[in-house]
Amino acid sequence: MNNIHKYSYRVDKSIRQQKFGHLSPVIWFTGLSGSGKSTLANALEARLFELGYKTYVLDGDNVRMGLNKDLGFSDNDRKENIRRISEVANLFSDSGTLTLTAFISPFIEDRQIARDIIGDSFIEIWVKADLKVCETRDPKGLYKKARIGEIKNFTGIDSPYQQPENPELIIETDKLDIEQSVDSIIDYLKQKNILN
Ligand code: ADX
Repeated sequence: MNNIHKYSYRVDKSIRQQKFGHLSPVIWFTGLSGSGKSTLANALEARLFELGYKTYVLDGDNVRMGLNKDLGFSDNDRKENIRRISEVANLFSDSGTLTLTAFISPFIEDRQIARDIIGDSFIEIWVKADLKVCETRDPKGLYKKARIGEIKNFTGIDSPYQQPENPELIIETDKLDIEQSVDSIIDYLKQKNILN
């Protein structure tokens, strides 16, 4: 941090939010692979975008093809993945964009780092589904590969998922369908005055 000084721009987060007519939270989905994070982020973004919100989704698989293509799935690489995403999500939020993230983000400590970086704008949603359900869905065939040892350090199999202790919201995707899930997220955000 030596010789680095923050420059304060006149057009700041709150001015952007006023201009765009909405807040710019970071809606942070966490959960097992196959729990429905990307599906939910996709459906929620579509709904909000249609309503006129300026939105963007940062998604695990997509970000790992670009910005984070140098990272794998060791604990340390996942930590760095989440740290970078948190910084990027924070910039998006600062830009006045309602930001959604869909990363397994399996470690409590790393999600806490995300919360610390993003501050009050951080909303953690646990996309909850039993491992068995996720494994049955197996949309990318990865659980199957993990079970036969073709993929190492797979979350839920030979790498842990640490359940959120105090998320803002839990969505149980083995009990609700996608539209019901989106409805409950929107209800929650309205109730907290995060959405108009
Ligand atoms: S995180 O743990 O660092 O948050 P992230 O969400 O970016 O993970 O990436 C998870 C996606 O990468 C999964 O949905 C899956 O498609 C793919 N993937 C490949 N290898 C693994 C692995 N060992 N563990 C979990 N996901 C993996």
